[in-house]
Amino acid sequence: MLFLSGLVCFFMILTAEARVGNSSQIDFCTETQECLLFDVICESAEYEVRHYNSVKWVSTNDTSISERVATVKSFYRLFQYISGKNELGVKIEMTTPVVVRVPKVSFFEHGTYTMSFLLPSEYQEDPPKPTNDKVYIHSTPDMKMYVKSYGGMMFPTAKRMSEKLVKALDSSKATYKTGYYYRVGYNSPFTFLERHNEVWTDVDGEPVCPASGN
Ligand SMILES: *[C@@H]1O[C@H](CO)[C@@H](O)[C@H](O)[C@H]1NC(C)=O
Ligand SMILES: *[C@@H]1O[C@H](CO)[C@@H](O)[C@H](O)[C@H]1NC(C)=O
Repeated sequence: MLFLSGLVCFFMILTAEARVGNSSQIDFCTETQECLLFDVICESAEYEVRHYNSVKWVSTNDTSISERVATVKSFYRLFQYISGKNELGVKIEMTTPVVVRVPKVSFFEHGTYTMSFLLPSEYQEDPPKPTNDKVYIHSTPDMKMYVKSYGGMMFPTAKRMSEKLVKALDSSKATYKTGYYYRVGYNSPFTFLERHNEVWTDVDGEPVCPASGN
């Protein structure tokens, strides 16, 4: 009996730590087996505050005047990594979300865009080293994010959504990191209906819940 309860305890700790998990746990995570899991701290129609555990990603940077060109090149590089262009030559399952860190740059100014694929739970501990020197493994710390979700096409709308998010944060007197935002996708570019997209902004200091939320 003692032995059994010890096991149960161990199992519960393991599941609490495993923050890349079965996509059936998230409604909008429909296209991959595994997804990045999170806890909702508070939410309203304006924005959500989420907590994410530290996880590992495979990432690449690209500097361009065109966000679209940078992200097409980056996607291709990361897709090659998961298709076997890694030290072990293994194929790695695609997961969601795909995250792009978008710098605030003015029109026709070069910006460095960082795209990241989340590593599936099988490769979180010890991911194979990339063979392309533009591709690198990267951990994000335990973090809190301000999140705004939206439907439809991700790309042209993201900037406007990030501005809406910032406006809502300002009216809640929330403090956040500036100079960039993340655009976060859960669907393949070939999915046209019922898409789920998000923009994220890093919480700076203590998170502030939306004024109208719970
Ligand atoms: C995910 O969860 C569903 C439903 O609970 C289950 O049928 C499926 O086998 C699970 N997949 C994995 C990879 O664990
Ligand atoms: C990638 O870009 C990010 C954001 O600008 C930067 O912090 C990071 O150092 C870059 N990493 C590499 C390997 O170039």
